[in-house]
Amino acid sequence: MIPPERPLKLLDIGCGEGRIAIFFARNGYEVTAFDLSPQGVEKAKRYADEIGVSIKVFQANLSEFRLEEKFDILFSTGVFHYIPEELRKEIFDNYKEFTNENGLNAYSVFVKKPFIPRAPDFEKAAQSWVSGEVFSYYHDWKMESCQEEIFDCNSSGILHKHAVNRMIAGKIFGDL
Ligand SMILES: C[S@@+](CC[C@H](N)C(=O)[O-])C[C@H]1O[C@@H](n2cnc3c(N)ncnc32)[C@H](O)[C@@H]1O
Repeated sequence: MIPPERPLKLLDIGCGEGRIAIFFARNGYEVTAFDLSPQGVEKAKRYADEIGVSIKVFQANLSEFRLEEKFDILFSTGVFHYIPEELRKEIFDNYKEFTNENGLNAYSVFVKKPFIPRAPDFEKAAQSWVSGEVFSYYHDWKMESCQEEIFDCNSSGILHKHAVNRMIAGKIFGDL
């Protein structure tokens, strides 16, 4: 939706071992990424070096870390279920404030559905999100897409299902 025809700064929140951050860097975005796991951060740096792309990666806890510089694109997948409910509004207010005009926030978030049993490898640190919740933090942005998907997962070797909300929202100023 916004190809890097000019320099575009992208932040990958909870980048894990950097697979998607590196994908974006290879495709011409100026990538910054962070994750709670020091091992993940080290691997992301190593993979980026091996592949020969430049990414800025650091260790941080998204519950504590707040943006102080602006990005064109904020991206996160499979991470926001670690944010406690009481911090969500504050965190998304910060992410929205530190997104450049005409920038995008693109996220996917696991959500709880009454007809999907808890995953066998459920983590204690995981917090539940209701379906549609992440969209509501962006009610005043232009929703480019918001969708819900249910997919099969075989993590831990036991087949189960997850529900995920995916959204892309654009920061528009003034009238369209
Ligand atoms: C399912 S993985 C997704 C990783 C990456 N986004 C991807 O798709 O490859 C979840 C990631 O969230 C990170 N994480 C968990 N709690 C976090 C926190 N409080 N702050 C930042 N990252 C966290 C984990 O270390 C892990 O790398």
